[in-house]
Amino acid sequence: MSEDACATQITITETGFPAEFAWGAATAAYQIEGAAAADGKGESIWDRFSHTPGAIGDGSTGDVACDHYRLWQDDLDLLASLRLNAYRFSVSWPRVFPEGRGAINPAGLDFYDRLVEGLLARGIAPFITLYHWDLPQALQEKGGWENRDTAFYFADFALALARRLGDRVGRWITHNEPHVVVYEGYVKGDKAPGIRKPSLILPISHHLLLSHGAATEALRSELPETARIGITLNFADIEPATDREADIQAARVRDGLWHRLYLDPLYHGAYPEDILPLVSAPPDLIRDGDLERIATPTDFLGVNYYTRSIIRAGRNGPDDPRSVPPRGALTTMRWEVYPEGLTHVLRRLRDDYSPKALYVTENGAAYPDSVAPDGRIYDTQRETYIRRHLQATRDALAEGVPVRGYFVWSLMDNFEWQHGYAPRFGVAYTDYATQQRIPKESARFLAAVAATNGDALDE
Ligand code: FCB
Repeated sequence: MSEDACATQITITETGFPAEFAWGAATAAYQIEGAAAADGKGESIWDRFSHTPGAIGDGSTGDVACDHYRLWQDDLDLLASLRLNAYRFSVSWPRVFPEGRGAINPAGLDFYDRLVEGLLARGIAPFITLYHWDLPQALQEKGGWENRDTAFYFADFALALARRLGDRVGRWITHNEPHVVVYEGYVKGDKAPGIRKPSLILPISHHLLLSHGAATEALRSELPETARIGITLNFADIEPATDREADIQAARVRDGLWHRLYLDPLYHGAYPEDILPLVSAPPDLIRDGDLERIATPTDFLGVNYYTRSIIRAGRNGPDDPRSVPPRGALTTMRWEVYPEGLTHVLRRLRDDYSPKALYVTENGAAYPDSVAPDGRIYDTQRETYIRRHLQATRDALAEGVPVRGYFVWSLMDNFEWQHGYAPRFGVAYTDYATQQRIPKESARFLAAVAATNGDALDE
């Protein structure tokens, strides 16, 4: 991608997409790499969590996953065969720093160096995510994200990556979905580290955001000016269940807890006033200079979008927002298919926060795929899902929202966190017994769309 690919003004071609659009697929280290203890890798909180009896729906772990640590060249060939020009992957922090800080594991860094070389050789732009949830267990022992120091160890990790890869990687994403880390890792406890303490909502959120700010500063100090830095947040299109005032207010609170709690400090340098009273803050949590650091300007915002969320006021009123059952077709995750919500989210982000650029860094669907007698996988529902969300992206572009890329979740079926291997999100099917990848029909569709820069979208 050219240097000016992140300027705010973009020119749309006749296909409805900009000429420099990133057509990509996304993955995350723990979900695909396997090789949990290979070549000096340290333990992560996901290694620990997945080995905890009862934690994972199907009793599986990410020990082997897609064995991508060994099969990475084949996987890059797969990406190239799909005509994609971008790949979003994450770096396993404990593969690089087995103890989370201190001594680097050279073999770990070498792996990502080879991966980046392999991508560039295939003409695919690397988008690195630094934190996709696999905190080194050694740091968890010191309090993990409850410990303010973790934010600065994260900045050191970012710096080490930038020193090694900064001459070749142009796109950097600090965090993936801090809200999910907070709610699922520390409130519901169904993701690592499996803690259930709602009083930690603000402390964990703040330390994650602080680490983003510190890492952004570290990256800027090391990377060439052409590098672009951002963060990825998860978004639902939140709508009130009725036009009753209480439901409208409840939807606003949910939006505050899920979205504004992160967006406001990142873009406006302050936590949302209406939400602060709902989340407890220990007295010395937010220190002088923290909010300025969190609001260090970035170049783009990553948007993960899967579904909408319809909200009513709970028994305790609007401050107790509750989801109502979905109203449309569902995927395996029981997430409603609601493509227009993606247009709403992108438009809203432009209107309220004016990020310089946006990338859809994840979008996709799990469906129960099977291999047909002819060896193919006819995943029509997924193909339709992707088509409609790309059309929704194009609608946002037509309104002038600066969307610069779309990454399907995921390149291949992989370890879906607490659900194990049952949900299949890939555009390529993973045969876990043989580690064969079989491109599904949705992959052929995506390849045609990518190869024509969106022209084949309506065919
Ligand atoms: C997102 C995660 C990603 C994957 C998808 C289905 O929240 O970032 O790793 O699990 O959901």
